[in-house]
Amino acid sequence: MHPEDTAARYDRIAQWWQTQHQDSLYGVAQLKRAIKYTPKNHLAIDIGCGSSGRFFKVLSEHGFQAEGLDISAEMINLAKKLHPNVTFYREDISAWKPPKSYSLIVAWDSTFHLPLDRQEQVVKKLCDALEGDGVLMFTCGGGYKHSEVSGTFQGENFEYSTLGVNAFLKILNEHNCTCLHLEYDQYPENHVYIIAQKHD
Ligand SMILES: C[S@@+](CC[C@H](N)C(=O)[O-])C[C@H]1O[C@@H](n2cnc3c(N)ncnc32)[C@H](O)[C@@H]1O
Repeated sequence: MHPEDTAARYDRIAQWWQTQHQDSLYGVAQLKRAIKYTPKNHLAIDIGCGSSGRFFKVLSEHGFQAEGLDISAEMINLAKKLHPNVTFYREDISAWKPPKSYSLIVAWDSTFHLPLDRQEQVVKKLCDALEGDGVLMFTCGGGYKHSEVSGTFQGENFEYSTLGVNAFLKILNEHNCTCLHLEYDQYPENHVYIIAQKHD
């Protein structure tokens, strides 16, 4: 599925998403784990931030200046109302050119919507956008091989892809990042989150 088609589907459920997730703790413990590994707290960006902005609260409590990026204009519009001090980018992550270096980059349940052939370039881009010792946390589908699946959520059809865990670890390694934590955090669901840190 083209990212703009994914955006149109998220536009339609953006209000529902905000109501559901504004006060939810989904992914927050994992974010706090990533923050523990992050030695500097300058700038952080939430890739595919959605409309709730629950991660922004945690980031600012830990002293980060937070930014958000999302391809859905409606997700961004709603998030802006709750978080007027956050800088937002309405962009497709696969086309975005990072303007800055980040201490922490989080992509929670967003890059798994990319077409399979864009996965590698996006993970590479996120590694390259980290400052020295910066930390990347992202979720992906688990398993050992690449795959694409589709499913219905809130009446909308979505597509997901993964390169498989070994391929993601290889890309991180090739782009000066070391995996610090990898967990099937919703087992037996095939949902994995990875925390990696940039080295020299
Ligand atoms: C499952 S929601 C997760 C939202 C948020 N991370 C959260 O946990 O509340 C996926 C988000 O990723 C965004 N997204 C999907 N594909 C994207 C792309 N190519 N570039 C930027 N954002 C994207 C969607 O618009 C949506 O807001």
